[in-house]
Amino acid sequence: MEYRLEKMAEFFENRLDGYDAHMLNEIDSAGEFYAFTASCLPKECCHVLDLGCGTGLEMEFYLKSNPDAHITGIDLSYGMLEEMKKKFDPAQITLIRGSYFDVPFGEGVYDAAVSVESLHHFTEEEKIPLYRKLHGALKENGYFILTDYFADSGEQERFFQSELIRMKKEQGLADHVFYHYDTPFTAAHEMQCLRDAGFSYVEEMQSWGSTHTLKAMK
Ligand SMILES: C[S@@+](CC[C@H](N)C(=O)[O-])C[C@H]1O[C@@H](n2cnc3c(N)ncnc32)[C@H](O)[C@@H]1O
Repeated sequence: MEYRLEKMAEFFENRLDGYDAHMLNEIDSAGEFYAFTASCLPKECCHVLDLGCGTGLEMEFYLKSNPDAHITGIDLSYGMLEEMKKKFDPAQITLIRGSYFDVPFGEGVYDAAVSVESLHHFTEEEKIPLYRKLHGALKENGYFILTDYFADSGEQERFFQSELIRMKKEQGLADHVFYHYDTPFTAAHEMQCLRDAGFSYVEEMQSWGSTHTLKAMK
């Protein structure tokens, strides 16, 4: 049977039960990549922006060893943010319910930004302006750590994108609404988008199968 697309926030609201266990136990190398991602973030007391923070999995790893850091987390899903709230001292986090495409980030505010398993749902036209806004929101010498699911080849990337367009058309869904469907870029394409948005230096830090960690310097 054809996969029915669900709106992005609803998809995650509907999978709240057991979400953390699913991510940690069923996603390949999750224990390693969450720990690695956290280890890439600044060590001193600092302000970190998390795009698509979900229930705060990456922040559990990070705040454990950096309890004085402050996190601003943005997520579309009310339920995910409610779960995240339960895990931390309110002084450690500011949570914003909304789309990171719409929420203003401010200028020169953050020491670092991070995103884990959230940005592989969007197009280049959507991501480059977001990365430009993010670039502006970082302090001098600030950086962005992106740990995400990436396509193995350009062919695979194009296949997922055309499948999403086909399914939206067949299911009569509005083009401007975000539906949950994985459309990962290749790591090389993602790195080019970050450079095109103004990041001065982009490197791959580590990979585990289809999951890679990239670092983009302001
Ligand atoms: C697979 S979860 C990852 C959550 C968390 N980073 C983790 O690794 O467990 C993807 C998250 O991205 C959020 N998300 C997707 N699109 C978003 C958008 N445009 N703005 C804010 N959050 C978004 C979803 O609501 C969901 O919580």
